[in-house]
Amino acid sequence: MAIPIPEDMSWEEAGATQPLAIAVQLGRRAALTANKTLAIFGCGPLGLLVIAVAKAYGVRKILVFDIEQTRMDFAVSYGADVGIVTPKDDGSTEALAFSQDFTKTVIQMHSLEQSVNVSTEASSAKVCAQMAVTILKAGGICIQAGLGKQLTSVPLFLLTAKELSIKGTVRFRPGCYADAVDLVGRKKVDLKPLLTATYPLTKAGEVF
Ligand SMILES: *[C@@H]1O[C@H](CO)[C@@H](O)[C@H](O)[C@H]1NC(C)=O
Repeated sequence: MAIPIPEDMSWEEAGATQPLAIAVQLGRRAALTANKTLAIFGCGPLGLLVIAVAKAYGVRKILVFDIEQTRMDFAVSYGADVGIVTPKDDGSTEALAFSQDFTKTVIQMHSLEQSVNVSTEASSAKVCAQMAVTILKAGGICIQAGLGKQLTSVPLFLLTAKELSIKGTVRFRPGCYADAVDLVGRKKVDLKPLLTATYPLTKAGEVF
């Protein structure tokens, strides 16, 4: 089961191939390829690694959404094409209508003409789960990766009307680690900007 790492790969990078393998699995579930537009909701570590994988796979355009400007800025510096700060749902509009209005504006503003082929949701916020569905073109794929809320409402009528696919993903499958090591080894993915500090294992508790 051990995956050899290239001579010139640091132990820090090798350690960080674990979360990258999760993004590789997401990329498999989403069938990320060239000529696709991808919308990522939530720019935590997973969202960032999905940007890296999507870039490496030649995805046409990557839009990222988050509620925090600083996260957004980092995501754009890390390779996203467009960073959009999601407005907070103040509850004055019904949640689905809010999502539909917002994604419609985004599509118009960035002249996407309904061409978001894949969306991924890693924030577990109800409004993001809905936006990840409303932003898709017909036949699109939505990947659910957030592990937060147990029950979130998804607009099922859009699933039917647009013949969408909703898939889940968690962790990785055989081959994902090898792909992750290959991507880093060939410099297709740079993990270094994500590594901000290194601690010995004995400090793990403190670090958490
Ligand atoms: C993604 O959607 C666009 C717009 O509908 C379409 O032209 C393109 O072929 C799609 N990409 C793939 C790989 O299916």
